[in-house]
Amino acid sequence: MPREQPNETLRVLDNRSSLRGYHSRSLTEDHKDWIIHSAMRAPTAGNMMHYSIIEVSDQEKKDRLVETCDNQPFIAKAPLVLLFLADMQRWYDYFEHADVPEFCESKGMEYVTPQESDLLLACCDALIAAQNAVIAAESLGIGSCYIGDIMENIETHREMFSLPRWVFPISLVCFGYRTEREEERPQSSRFPREFVYFEDEYSHVDSKAFEKMLGEHFGKTDGFSGGTQNIGQAIYWRKTGSDFAAEMRRSVKVALEDWSE
Ligand SMILES: Cc1cc2nc3c(=O)[nH]c(=O)nc-3n(C[C@H](O)[C@H](O)[C@H](O)COP(=O)(O)O)c2cc1C
Repeated sequence: MPREQPNETLRVLDNRSSLRGYHSRSLTEDHKDWIIHSAMRAPTAGNMMHYSIIEVSDQEKKDRLVETCDNQPFIAKAPLVLLFLADMQRWYDYFEHADVPEFCESKGMEYVTPQESDLLLACCDALIAAQNAVIAAESLGIGSCYIGDIMENIETHREMFSLPRWVFPISLVCFGYRTEREEERPQSSRFPREFVYFEDEYSHVDSKAFEKMLGEHFGKTDGFSGGTQNIGQAIYWRKTGSDFAAEMRRSVKVALEDWSE
């Protein structure tokens, strides 16, 4: 039975689903402006805004992203494509400009360049901003889809967008108005709450409970391929053990090494 949706914000959150087929109509300037503004109103660690957003408007770049992000053709057709970057470069540049290294030396303090902790914090900032953009868009009747594959092919993406050392592309998000066909698509399911939401301490899923956890969740998969015999094997085959996941592992390792060496 559908839940009661007590206000407009909860209705938007409850009804959202990813959109991969977009109306060809461009977004109005006002709608785009609200999406960016809402992203920038997101909470940010220490109010330091460790993120940047690049709008990908060049069609050649969108076409290229289709290939570099694991062949997802809908990227090229999205009227608005935003690249969310974890960004420590801006603060690092400013620290240099503001003579922070000299200040540290005068105080006998170590001057530290961005570390792994800064990368994680910057990723938090960038993703929280991205999700604000997604929800703002949804409230305006604009659907969206994250593209995690932007973490692949780091060398190519750095070159395409002139990304410096302490900037990491954590997510790409495509936006566009819904077509009538897309409006009819059913929402995807979720695991039952008991497997995700715990009180006071972490809880492993009991081996007898996996079936219940999966329930209908992957019930509509395209069957088992590659000799797989259950959902665990099928998901590993299609996702974790796939070529695109291997490329993501390689690419992120390169980025991490460059970030912290
Ligand atoms: C970090 C992240 C990366 C994602 N990457 C992709 C992607 O590369 N391609 C895609 O079609 N969907 C991608 N998605 C969308 C998910 O597939 C989608 O959120 C999930 O299937 C649940 O469906 P829903 O958003 O409609 O509820 C991504 C979502 C997240 C949060």
